[in-house]
Amino acid sequence: MPRSFLRKLDDAQDVFTFRDFILLPGRSEVEPSGIDLSAKLTKNIGVKVPLVSSPMDSVTEWRLALEMARLGGVGAIHRNMPVERQVEQAKKVKAAGGEVLSADGKGRPLVGASVSPLDAERCKALDRVVDFLVADVAHFHTSKVMEAARRVIPDLSSDFIAGNVGTSQAAFDIVDELPRVDGFRAGIGSGSICITSEVTRVGSPTLFAVAQVASALEERGLDIPIVADGGIRGPGDAALAFAAGASVAMLGSMLAGTDESPSARVTKGGKRYKVHRGMASAAARKVRFAIDRYSVPAKGLDEGVEAYVPYVGGAEKVVARMENGLRAAFGYAGAKSVREMWTKAAFGSVSAVGATELGAHSIEVK
Ligand code: XMP
Repeated sequence: MPRSFLRKLDDAQDVFTFRDFILLPGRSEVEPSGIDLSAKLTKNIGVKVPLVSSPMDSVTEWRLALEMARLGGVGAIHRNMPVERQVEQAKKVKAAGGEVLSADGKGRPLVGASVSPLDAERCKALDRVVDFLVADVAHFHTSKVMEAARRVIPDLSSDFIAGNVGTSQAAFDIVDELPRVDGFRAGIGSGSICITSEVTRVGSPTLFAVAQVASALEERGLDIPIVADGGIRGPGDAALAFAAGASVAMLGSMLAGTDESPSARVTKGGKRYKVHRGMASAAARKVRFAIDRYSVPAKGLDEGVEAYVPYVGGAEKVVARMENGLRAAFGYAGAKSVREMWTKAAFGSVSAVGATELGAHSIEVK
């Protein structure tokens, strides 16, 4: 009797999320202050702090992008606006005066912008204005998107980050079929406002996606940076992503609640919040279809939700908390840099039952 369907179930891969692991303590030679947090965002762009703000319309416009560059990270301006406005936003960051830790060759703030490879006009309009273009499609590993990227990339001089991807096979196909790729954006379905996996039961959680892409690149002997994108709730998740092969962490919800995000501030029950919404939520899609003729509602499906995140003040605080937490995590793991996290940090797996012991427990939190 054929048993191939049963075998499919038997052969299922374990798919890991941030909540499934911790990092094991390793012999440490460095003090937290001696840890180097600088990393590569793309083949040609480095940042002092391994953080990039997500190209979402509740997260990154010129204000947050500029603040991220000032603090040593970088921002990617979202594409839920007409091309001309996105170009203006990027130019505003480039023209801003003042000291920034992340600068281009001319001392101007580093900045990126998100694009769809299907929108060649937008890619070309932003090229040379920004330092990098980051693909912003839910499933880059589709023939139509790959073919569009293959055609547009030769015309671009800015670095190009392909994403989102979630498998080794996607990474293999991208490096084989595209004229060049300067970075990967990995993670499908882990975002705080994301319901893709819930609705479709398809996804590649960020930690797993990063490890998939990193393994493929290692197999090919390629050194192309990976951005871990979706579901990062604090420094520990970013540290796990680095241990799995990422170079930079992309933050959405963690930065949506800041002063510098463009989203609306609201007060509910005496508490202050800001709005955070998925780029595939009904509200964000409505804006997109109104301005972008390339965004045809092919799926007729909402894959994101609208939400409130607590208002947290300046982005500086969030970045400082991430930096301090990362230094501590690297120190415990015995790594003095992101690259050392790749080789030195070891994972421990946590059972669902055991997980409760890892937070505050057996007490009443004040
Ligand atoms: P966090 O958890 O940092 O995640 O808020 C941000 C990332 O989530 C992705 N994103 C979406 N994913 N439906 C999705 O499935 C959506 O509507 C959506 N909007 C954003 C995106 O990768 C982002 O960087």
